[in-house]
Amino acid sequence: MIAMPEKTEMIAVVAMAENRIIGDGNGLIWRLPDDLRRVKALTMGCPLIMGRKTWDSIGGPLPGRASIVLTRNPKWKAEGAIAVTDLMAAVAAAKGWIAAMPEARNAIILFGGGQIYEMGIALCNRIELTYIKASPSAGPQAALFPVLEDNAWKRVIEAEIAAKDTAPAYRYDRLTRKTPVFV
Ligand SMILES: NC(=O)c1ccc[n+]([C@@H]2O[C@H](COP(=O)([O-])OP(=O)(O)OC[C@H]3O[C@@H](n4cnc5c(N)ncnc54)[C@H](OP(=O)(O)O)[C@@H]3O)[C@@H](O)[C@H]2O)c1
Repeated sequence: MIAMPEKTEMIAVVAMAENRIIGDGNGLIWRLPDDLRRVKALTMGCPLIMGRKTWDSIGGPLPGRASIVLTRNPKWKAEGAIAVTDLMAAVAAAKGWIAAMPEARNAIILFGGGQIYEMGIALCNRIELTYIKASPSAGPQAALFPVLEDNAWKRVIEAEIAAKDTAPAYRYDRLTRKTPVFV
């Protein structure tokens, strides 16, 4: 029998601009290769919970991680995706994947986009935030990161990265809940 982890940390990993924009509904609106490398390191060995639109924007599964995709369409499927129709089913699928994979880390990544962060942030104990020092416009389908409760989080600035060529300046912040939550 496979033992499911009892206490698992859920971590939101997100790149957000000053105006809370995270994408235009179809993809990202900036190109930050160092940030993508950081996302890879933060998420490797973990199940990712994402919305169907974010799955579409990525175009396939990311190696070394499970892609658990939320959709309201019970018939939806795609190669390399674990489809679920509600958040608790996503958490259960993520824990099942962790239990079944010897090399998995006991952490679930809330991977976006806007609708999924809005729904799942209450379950997150940590946010790995790339804070982009720009206020881009992202059109009518713009996706946003939710506004956080003011006093619930402790913020540590991990690194400041200067603007370079066409890339804006940005910052890596780690936010941890003052009162821990686990799933
Ligand atoms: N900057 C970042 O860190 C980051 C990270 C991730 C994504 N993004 C960006 O965010 C944008 C996508 O975000 P988005 O908000 O438009 O879409 P999304 O959150 O990725 O996906 C939305 C879809 O999730 C499904 N869904 C939503 N609520 C659900 C529920 N309660 N139960 C079951 N399924 C549910 C629906 O799929 P169906 O329509 O199939 O029913 C819905 O259309 C893209 O631009 C992407 O590039 C940015």
